[in-house]
Parts: sequence; structure tokens; C-alpha cells
Amino acid sequence: MHSSTANKATPETISFVLDGEVIEISDLDPTRTVLQYLRENLRRTGTKEGCAEGDCGACTVVIAELDDSGDSIQVRAINSCIQFLATLDGKELITIESLRGKDGVLHPAQQAMVDYHGSQCGFCTPGFVMSLLALYKNNAAPTRVEVDDALAGNLCRCTGYRPIVDAAMKMYADGSQREATGDWLLAAKGAGAEEQLQDKVAKLKSLRRKTSLAINRAGRRFDAPRSIPELAGLVEGRPDATLLAGGTDVGIWVTKQHRELDDVIYLGRISELRTISVSATHVDIGAAATLSDVMPVLGKYFPGLEELFVRFASPPIRNAGTLGGNVANGSPIGDSMPALLALDTTLVLRKGKRQRELPLDEFYMDYQETAMEQGEFLEKIRVPLLESGTYLQSYKVSKRFDQDISAVCAAFRVKLDDGLITEVRVAYGGLAATPKRAIQCEKALLDKVFERTTIDVAMQVLDRDFQPIADMRASDQYRMQVCRNLLLRFYLEITGDQSTRVYEYGRV
Ligand SMILES: Cc1cc2nc3c(=O)[nH]c(=O)nc-3n(C[C@H](O)[C@H](O)[C@H](O)COP(=O)(O)OP(=O)(O)OC[C@H]3O[C@@H](n4cnc5c(N)ncnc54)[C@H](O)[C@@H]3O)c2cc1C
Ligand code: FES
Ligand code: FES
Repeated sequence: MHSSTANKATPETISFVLDGEVIEISDLDPTRTVLQYLRENLRRTGTKEGCAEGDCGACTVVIAELDDSGDSIQVRAINSCIQFLATLDGKELITIESLRGKDGVLHPAQQAMVDYHGSQCGFCTPGFVMSLLALYKNNAAPTRVEVDDALAGNLCRCTGYRPIVDAAMKMYADGSQREATGDWLLAAKGAGAEEQLQDKVAKLKSLRRKTSLAINRAGRRFDAPRSIPELAGLVEGRPDATLLAGGTDVGIWVTKQHRELDDVIYLGRISELRTISVSATHVDIGAAATLSDVMPVLGKYFPGLEELFVRFASPPIRNAGTLGGNVANGSPIGDSMPALLALDTTLVLRKGKRQRELPLDEFYMDYQETAMEQGEFLEKIRVPLLESGTYLQSYKVSKRFDQDISAVCAAFRVKLDDGLITEVRVAYGGLAATPKRAIQCEKALLDKVFERTTIDVAMQVLDRDFQPIADMRASDQYRMQVCRNLLLRFYLEITGDQSTRVYEYGRV
């Protein structure tokens, strides 16, 4: 690996900004992680490795990149332990060391951690500070709940979270005194430092590539095409290549399963694939749109999915991970699929120039086996908008509120006409080898009056749809009980007999 600050980008060289300098790296191992590069190549050891699988947040760094308009910068925290360095091409990397002011003064997020005793062992602290930095740059006046959510991907096991949350709430007071310095990192969202922002935009624009990134290092390949046709050609020509979107699943294959990925095609540089559009009938989501970009849009049109979104992983995972990756990975415990199944979502699959649209319901064949053909990829996810008189909710049951894998995930949609169920979808994750609709249960509900006796019958029918397994997350009896009770909860919430959402407990 070679790095320099001179600008000589080639198809095999990645360029990114670090502390104001353009770093160029050629001869890059395609699956080297950002964390490995920071700690082992640069000896910037402020960024820590805890779990190496996106769970603890000790490795959190911040990425700044041009937004879709190209005139502004999006600032987001990610987990460097599972992010491949090659995906930084064209972006700015900000680490804990970047926060040191010219005069050695601490950043307001750091100073508040000192002032409010937010650091004890210190190992997790840089990760917390980086999540606080992302919050500081994106939200000028967060609520307590927003602070909790921003820190959901950072684990502290010694001081407890109260002093860290105090630091988060207080860091703004300190920051406002420093904005006058014109330092972009010190300026909270919407505040000053305009000149430095424009410099950053110009620098990132100068990194835009003329040719797509195509690394071929001793037979190991990493391609980052920039258009859908280019991607389609690569995938058709190399059907065994690993498609990489956010890497929050794929990264762990490398860091935890020690798999060698010799051929990787990265989807994150194709702006069409990150587009989200809304028509009169559908929300169309490009397969590489990040969960952080998708969730506010889906939340607007499907408020019943709010709990699911808050509880899906953590902000750093949602900032990197994509909805397309969740769907394509096809894990039986993936959280988005029950909701997407309940919404009659379709997938646009592409092979070369050929596109086909397939109901999500027909996509999952068996455990981690999908209907995707060799050389095909997921291009778009099409979610139909709700008709009037329709109710939709999704629920996640796991041991922890934040950052945990579901024991059971469920989604329900009913259309009611004068109290009669004229359309119904019931879908679950965690109960079978794939995310799956409960067809027998749906039959027991369709054309019936939406009342307690109907629900009681449908709850019993669910054991014709599923014979859940027992594992460390839950026993089979527990899963079955939860699966029935969630249907009842849906009924109680829709009819107003029970209005308190579980997700509010302890958070207001
Ligand atoms: C700490 C942690 C917490 C998590 N929490 C949750 C959670 O709460 N709920 C949940 O559901 N998941 C969770 N996940 C799993 C993961 O974040 C999601 O599945 C995420 O949506 C994957 O998206 P990605 O873009 O990172 O996929 P990647 O890792 O890039 O890819 C995943 C798979 O999809 C394939 N793929 C990606 N895009 C395409 C495409 N366009 N066409 C064809 N194949 C494609 C890849 O080849 C790979 O097989 C968690 C992961 C971590 C590390
Ligand atoms: S080291 Fe734990 S999230 Fe990266
Ligand atoms: S301060 Fe490090 S685990 Fe709490």
C-alpha cells in the first residue's frame, strides 16, 4: 500500500480527504478495513477495536461527503471496523485525532465529556465523541430521545450513560462560544464557518473521478461502477462476484468469518441506485439507498413503521447499511421484510439490459436462498402507497431495545370497509427459514368482521403457518406466544382499546 498527498488518481487509486490533506492510496488490499488502515498504517490509534462487528461503537468515525445536490456536505458516523477502505474514495474521513484544534483546545463534544465525567475506562470514549460530533453537526438542539438514539450504537459498560447523555445535552453551550473561530468542525448545524464549508465542498468536488474505480491487486478485484448499465455489465460478466452495498453484513464475513473476498463489486458510487422517489402510487427505492435515507421517507408515508426504524440497528449501521442489502441478504431475522411483505412490495431485478418485477413474496425460496438468478442484481424496491381505510403496523421483539436482533418481527396490514376486513396481510420474521406471510392466518381474517372473536380465531390458526425453532434468542413456545400476541396488540391499537406503544416506555 502506498499513500501520498499528490493528486495522481488512476482507476486503481483511491483518494480521500483526511485532516485537510488529499490522501491517495494505490496497491490497496480491496477488503482492508478503515480501522485497520487507521491503526496499522497510520498508527492513529485513537480509534479503537472492540467487537470488530459493528456492535460496540469503539471504532466510530465520521464521514463527510457531498450530498446529492453536490453543493452541501452530509456528515455521518459509521463503524470503521466493517467499512472497507476502498469505499472512502471521494469522501472525507474524520477521526478522533481530527478534532484536535490548532491551539490544542478540545472540541465541544470532547470538553463536555470531560466536564460531565463521561469517560472512565476511556476505551469507548473516542467512539462516543465521534457519535456526538455527528449529532452536533446534524442537530442543533436534540431532545433527550434524539440523544439516546444518536448514541444507540455506542456501548459503555462502566460509567453508565447518564454522564454521557449530560455531556451530549451540554456540548452546544460550549460550542456556540467557539463558532467565531470559523472552524467547520466547531460549528454546530446551521452555524457559521461558511468559508471552510465551501473549501470542503470544492475539495470533495476535485476528487470526483473521471474513470470508475477498478482495483486489480494480484488477481483480487474491487470495482466501483458509476452507472446502472456499467454495473449490469460487470455483474453479468462476473456472476460470482460479491455485491457490496453498505457492507454491514459483508464486512462481518471478512472480520469475523475470515472469508477472503477476491472479487467485489461496490454499489455505493451509483447515484441512480441511491435515489428515492415518490409517485402517486409508489415509493421507489434504489437498492443502494442507505437505511438512514430511506427511513424518513417510509416513515412519512407509513407512520406505523416508526418503531421498527428507531430499533433497526444503530445510526452508524443505518448510515452505511442499505434497504437493498437487507432485502437481498434474505436473513430470516431481517427486520424490514415483514413490513415490506405486508405492503405487497415488489422488487425490480436486473440482468444485463433485462429488468423483471417480482413480488417480494416470491423472492425468498429457502434459508438464504432467493429467486435472484446468476448475473442478476436488485435494482429497485417498489412499495405501494396505502389506500384509504388501511391500517399498517410493524413490531420488533428483542431482548434489548436498541441494537439487537429480533426474536420475532411482525407486520400487519388490514383494509377495513364498514368494519369488514376486505384486504389483509400478516407477515413475520424469526419464525421460519425465511421472512414469510402467514397465509392461513390471513384466510382466517379475510372478509370477517374486525372484532375480537375474529382475532382470537386467527391467533390460533397461526400454528398452521409456523413451527418456530428454539435458539439463544427465544424458545419455540415463546416465539409462538409472541407471534399470536402481536396480532392481538395490532387489533387493540387499531381499535383504540390499547393506545400505548411499547416503544414509548422509558423514553418520555
Ligand atoms: C451491529 C449490527 C446490527 C444490525 N442490526 C440489524 C437489525 O436490527 N435489523 C436487521 O434487519 N439487520 C440488522 N443488521 C444487518 C444489516 O445491517 C442489514 O441487513 C443491512 O440492511 C444490510 O445492508 P448492507 O447495505 O450493509 O448490505 P451488504 O452487507 O453490503 O450486503 C448484504 C448482502 O446483500 C447482497 N446485496 C447487497 N445489495 C445487493 C443488490 N443491490 N443486489 C443483489 N445483492 C445485493 C450482498 O451481496 C450481500 O450478500 C445489523 C448488522 C450489524 C453489523
Ligand atoms: S469495533 Fe465494535 S463496532 Fe467496530
Ligand atoms: S467509559 Fe469505557 S466502557 Fe464506559
